[in-house]
Amino acid sequence: MNKYTFPKNFHWGCASSSHQIEGNTYNDWTEWEKSEARLVELKRKNKDPREFISGAAANSFMLNDQDIECLKELNVNSYRFSVEWSRIEPQQGNFDYEALKHYQQFIQKLRANKIEPFVTLWHWPIPVWVRDLGGWTSKKILPFFNRYVKIVAEFLDEDVNYWVTINEPLVYSSNSYFSGQWPPQKKNLFLTIKVVHNLIKAHKQAYDILKNIYKDNQVGIASHNIHFDVKKNNFVNKLLRFVANYFWNDYFLKKIDNEQDFIGLNYYFHSRINYGFDKNENKLVSDLGWELYPEGIYHVLKELKKFKKPVYITEHGLADKNDKHRAWYLAESLRFVHKAIKDGVDVKGYFHWSLLDNFEWADGFFPRFGLYEVDYTTFKRTPRASVAVYGNICKNNSLK
Ligand code: BGC
Repeated sequence: MNKYTFPKNFHWGCASSSHQIEGNTYNDWTEWEKSEARLVELKRKNKDPREFISGAAANSFMLNDQDIECLKELNVNSYRFSVEWSRIEPQQGNFDYEALKHYQQFIQKLRANKIEPFVTLWHWPIPVWVRDLGGWTSKKILPFFNRYVKIVAEFLDEDVNYWVTINEPLVYSSNSYFSGQWPPQKKNLFLTIKVVHNLIKAHKQAYDILKNIYKDNQVGIASHNIHFDVKKNNFVNKLLRFVANYFWNDYFLKKIDNEQDFIGLNYYFHSRINYGFDKNENKLVSDLGWELYPEGIYHVLKELKKFKKPVYITEHGLADKNDKHRAWYLAESLRFVHKAIKDGVDVKGYFHWSLLDNFEWADGFFPRFGLYEVDYTTFKRTPRASVAVYGNICKNNSLK
């Protein structure tokens, strides 16, 4: 047997999210992207606003058959994607059953191709009416989120076993309410804490709803964990690492420990603490300047062992338009995933971010995360060279 063979029934997949690929969504982000304030901000930074409006994105809502062809070419057995709250409930209490049927048919097509759907219920944008009620700062939206979860789950449950309730609660809360980079662009610690706690409640309630519908549903969140390293092993750096691990990596997961069947790990960052948080040493970086440090995934996985839960790597990838580092980064990282498995972490799956180039939030269309390149005029999907590399790994369930 190959040295780097993965466990039997390992989930090999890709990940995506609705607002980033579907096209023509209408939610708080869509409005923000076109708002006067945003246009002024982009003008000030000398950027072309057209690059920052999600618009038709990769047109995946219309072209999901093509996406399935890509998944088949990759030999993946799983696909993580999100359903869009604003599409399903465009007005308060007004559910669009055609949209739900659309997702149902997509899921059935995935199943017909032996691809297991992992459905994310909320990947950041909210319907405009939810925003107008105060968004996640307000407890008022919890019953609405519950109702949405229940309706979606009852509709899709027959074909879905794996549910991700919430994507990266801390990335959302900090970017939208603390650093003020994302809508609604608040810079308020008090609101940030409120949002985090409402998201904890939202997850717990969604967990109960999903379990009541079908007790064997597997439910978790996707948590964005960082490998905090110290540059020099002194008291201050170690204290900072402790605090960072506690609040950023563990806090949310501990709060929902009794309400998660698995941990979804999204891994992108390594931070070297040196009396502060250094993101990288600019050794090898992606097109976004993020350090490529394959070993980091091993450490975050090891840190998750204490939760004694199965782990799915629900996202991992890089912006690399010319596909210079993707194959190397993917394979090297997977070697470290394999090492974590050997060291007792129950990793059950890996989802590469992303299947396609997509709308990268406040960074717009320039970062190219896709295994497939998307031509945003014709929507043609073209495989980058890494498709063959990842496709072989998935097919063989092992790496050379
Ligand atoms: C998010 C994705 C995003 C990716 C790359 C993750 O934090 O879940 O939506 O595109 O990182 O930045």
